[in-house]
Amino acid sequence: MAKIIDGKAIAAQIKEEVKAGVAEFAKQGITVTLAVIQVGEDPASCVYVRNKKRTCTELGIRSLAYEIPEQTSEEELLSLVEELNGREDVDGILVQLPLPAHISEKKVIAAIDPKKDVDGFHPYNVGALSTGEKGFLPGTPAGIIQLLKRSGIDIDGKECVVIGRSNIVGKPMAQLLLKENGTVTIAHSHTKNLPEVTRRADILIVAIGQRKMITKEFVKAGAVVIDVGMHRDENNKLCGDVDYADVFETAGAITPVPGGVGPMTIAMLMHNCLESVRLRLS
Ligand code: GUN
Repeated sequence: MAKIIDGKAIAAQIKEEVKAGVAEFAKQGITVTLAVIQVGEDPASCVYVRNKKRTCTELGIRSLAYEIPEQTSEEELLSLVEELNGREDVDGILVQLPLPAHISEKKVIAAIDPKKDVDGFHPYNVGALSTGEKGFLPGTPAGIIQLLKRSGIDIDGKECVVIGRSNIVGKPMAQLLLKENGTVTIAHSHTKNLPEVTRRADILIVAIGQRKMITKEFVKAGAVVIDVGMHRDENNKLCGDVDYADVFETAGAITPVPGGVGPMTIAMLMHNCLESVRLRLS
């Protein structure tokens, strides 16, 4: 039977730490500030942005919301990013993805000052992660490392399998596990004999985007299973990429959905906002 890894509790711990750091800066007259840009009204983005703004308020971080229309041109968005890059009172800039089809996400991400790129998506920060330089880490994979460490799960020397190779989760996840001395395999849609590969894992990170795809046949007894997915099941209940009920008896530890990885992403974003100020002043 699996130990449940409580992402909500661990995220709350991290948020308390960030809140204390933000309060310290406030005493020095420094207000940690995050600019959040949302283009259009994608329903999922509205939920994420609302959560981010609410969490900022909880932690004493000032959020500047730019909710701009779907028809905004790429040029207009780029000039807003430029303006925020130049503002000394803005520590972090976040452009909520996805962007409308007429705007290049690549161009917009590349336009953000890497020192304010609290999402860790800018090519400079992606490169820094790969070479081991200091830089911002993307929230979801960085949050997963915190989940593992704060649950007393050692990564050093472990067989780690990441399913999924996105720029936001799979690839940076593999880099971070490697940095912690894991033996890392990335599996994806072209991987042959997927269950054979995933059954090697001591630590299995699942970021496929297919609801309840990972059943016990994919999991070694006692493995740690981290579920990045978020879907609605046949009863409209939230569920992940892992069939939680099926895997529960086999896994040694598992993250629930909701209440696992999800809360960690925002907590790490807040951590990055605070870190941005620390780096600026160091
Ligand atoms: N869309 C889905 N996840 C994210 C995220 O972590 N950051 C941004 N900016 N957009 C997203």
